[in-house]
Amino acid sequence: MDSPIAEEKCILKLDVPRNGPFPKFQRPIVLGSFSLDRERVYCSDLSQLKYIKAPKNPKNVKFDLNDKLSDTIEKNEEINEKLDNVLKWISHNVKPPIDERIGDIVCYRGLITTILCTPYENQEGWIINATKWNGVVYMCASDTEEKKQRKKQATPHDKRFFHWGYKFEQYMTAASPDAEPDLSVAQNQNEEFCVMFKSKLNLHRLMYGAEMDGVESSDVVKNLEDLQAAEFIELKTNRKIQHPKQAENFKKYKLIKWWCQSFLVGITKIWCGYRDDHGVIHQVEKMQVSDFPRKAKGIWDPALCMNFCDHFLTFVRDVVKEEEPHTVWQFQWSPGEDIVGTKIPGPSEFSFVHNWFADNAKK
Ligand code: A3P
Ligand code: MG
Ligand code: MG
Repeated sequence: MDSPIAEEKCILKLDVPRNGPFPKFQRPIVLGSFSLDRERVYCSDLSQLKYIKAPKNPKNVKFDLNDKLSDTIEKNEEINEKLDNVLKWISHNVKPPIDERIGDIVCYRGLITTILCTPYENQEGWIINATKWNGVVYMCASDTEEKKQRKKQATPHDKRFFHWGYKFEQYMTAASPDAEPDLSVAQNQNEEFCVMFKSKLNLHRLMYGAEMDGVESSDVVKNLEDLQAAEFIELKTNRKIQHPKQAENFKKYKLIKWWCQSFLVGITKIWCGYRDDHGVIHQVEKMQVSDFPRKAKGIWDPALCMNFCDHFLTFVRDVVKEEEPHTVWQFQWSPGEDIVGTKIPGPSEFSFVHNWFADNAKK
């Protein structure tokens, strides 16, 4: 299988056995967290943690997601953060040497979500870069040409959709357990609360960072112990479902992503806000993540997603053996095609393991 066709290239065929059993996946463990402030500066604190505020009457709300939309401070897309903030967290929290003791693979949760969804994805390809250093494979996604184009050509209408999701978060969260949502402040999309997790998928020990929308807690979360005890909740918006075709598409395209994203961090509940075409939410519903695979039976199978991920990570670890912080193995995939890996000797635009991290890791 998967035999290299040349020294600097390799191919993985996308044939995953169907009907495989669900693989071993360890319950994710919270290792720590960090915040990104309004200027997107890394902060070793809980300042950006939000508390979920469920509406008193979920079946009858009126959240206008267009409210103060023009004041929104957009995330600066020009800075490419790559894996920087995760590397910072590791540097601040792991005593060197930083080696295989922290795990086999380090990345963002979003990257694993992308891998999990691949067997059912028929629109969007991806690019995943991997670098091995001191026994650990670091992985970081980069934008495909199509995605770069789409970002460049995003119309105000496209951006509006993007803002709506964040606005919903503002309606559903507060800065402390006894506070109410504050709609008076302009939304700043730089702000983020990120939690670091570890888990295990079969033989792969994973460490990943994940942006968290909020916790359900009546007490203030003051430290790591509190954070480990808190229940994380995901917030999502969706067009209200009125036709069977919309229900079908929701199961096929949304539920898979929501399941993968939530399952990886042990989230069991999602508050979904149903909006109309004008961006007004009239109803919110608490959904159980564990129900999704049953709802989507015959459409997608979570075991297949997980087994494919295991298969791909095994492939990556077989290929990425050389330890050089600036060299990346770049894995590219487009729907309907095989995964192609290419070695790109560094430094290149894709390198993402910085000298400050690499040197510190070896201490
Ligand atoms: P929705 O979740 O309501 O779509 P997340 O749900 O992952 O916490 O992301 C929060 C919001 O950010 C999303 O709200 C959406 O508005 C926006 N967003 C995140 N990733 C996006 C993407 N790739 N394209 C467009 N919008 C995105
Ligand atoms: Mg989020
Ligand atoms: Mg969300």
